[in-house]
Amino acid sequence: MTDLSVDLGFCVLKNPVIAASGTFGYGPEFQQFLDLNRLGGFVVKGLYYDPRPGNPPPRLKETAAGLINAIGLQGIGVERFAEEILPGLQGLDTAVIINVCGNHDEEYAEVVEYLNDRDGITAYELNVSCPNVKQEGRCPAMYPDATYRIVKLVKRISRRPLITKLTPNAADIIEVALSAQEAGSDALSLVNTFLALAVDAETRRPALANVFGGLSGPAIKPLALRCVYQVAARVSVPVIGMGGIMTGTDAAEFLISGASAVQVGTANFVDPHATLNIISELEEYGRRQGLEKISELTGTLKI
Ligand SMILES: Cc1cc2nc3c(=O)[nH]c(=O)nc-3n(C[C@H](O)[C@H](O)[C@H](O)COP(=O)(O)O)c2cc1C
Repeated sequence: MTDLSVDLGFCVLKNPVIAASGTFGYGPEFQQFLDLNRLGGFVVKGLYYDPRPGNPPPRLKETAAGLINAIGLQGIGVERFAEEILPGLQGLDTAVIINVCGNHDEEYAEVVEYLNDRDGITAYELNVSCPNVKQEGRCPAMYPDATYRIVKLVKRISRRPLITKLTPNAADIIEVALSAQEAGSDALSLVNTFLALAVDAETRRPALANVFGGLSGPAIKPLALRCVYQVAARVSVPVIGMGGIMTGTDAAEFLISGASAVQVGTANFVDPHATLNIISELEEYGRRQGLEKISELTGTLKI
């Protein structure tokens, strides 16, 4: 048997498979399908301080080998999350990661400050990379200085490790990764979705009310692998890779490219058991390859 546990420095995951934010509800929604304790961890839907309605519909469009979404970070806000959802997550034996959002720099800090005293949280993932909220898909993670500012601000007040989630829509994702690391980020997760457009040729209108959306799923896997490889080669903090992972082999490809763990998003919509299947397939892959520990794979791409 291959030991599937991975050490991220600030915590040890029982396996490298984490359910990605926005595709797994706040966690409890998936309890009817699987035992959350079998996961390496899960990331809750993005949380602003206040509740948000998100964007108007239509907000989802399936494409060849992918999904374009413009949900616009609909959510219940941090106060309701802390009162109604978090108590139910506190007994879990898995990493619970909070995806933190903000309309401005200070809001990221306000969400973290509100949660600092609450139990049952492993780490914060700073969502500085959503392409579905501001015009033209702009977000802080497109810019090294904006990313640095937010990470630095939150780091000062956070009592938990910070993971900064990067966008592939940055001109130079390596520069942004280095800024996040310099500002004190304990790990990096990448990638968020690719800014995209779907067109209805009959009506000559965009398929989504928001015009633009973010592309995820198998269509983006080679692009995401490239980002993970480039970033992991340059930073010293652990990298959590994602983008189109549907199978254990996909997950192995991300580890080989430099990731220490992976997140699984769109696959959860295809099959709510996807994360568990990926864990089993990764274990089988490890056995086939004669690996003692799955962590041996990280960064082993032979160039
Ligand atoms: C419907 C939907 C909602 C998402 N919501 C969030 C979110 O709230 N916060 C976030 O950081 N990423 C969000 N994402 C991005 C995913 O977490 C992930 O980065 C991306 O989908 C790439 O992984 P995948 O190809 O495995 O889905 C969302 C993705 C989808 C498809």
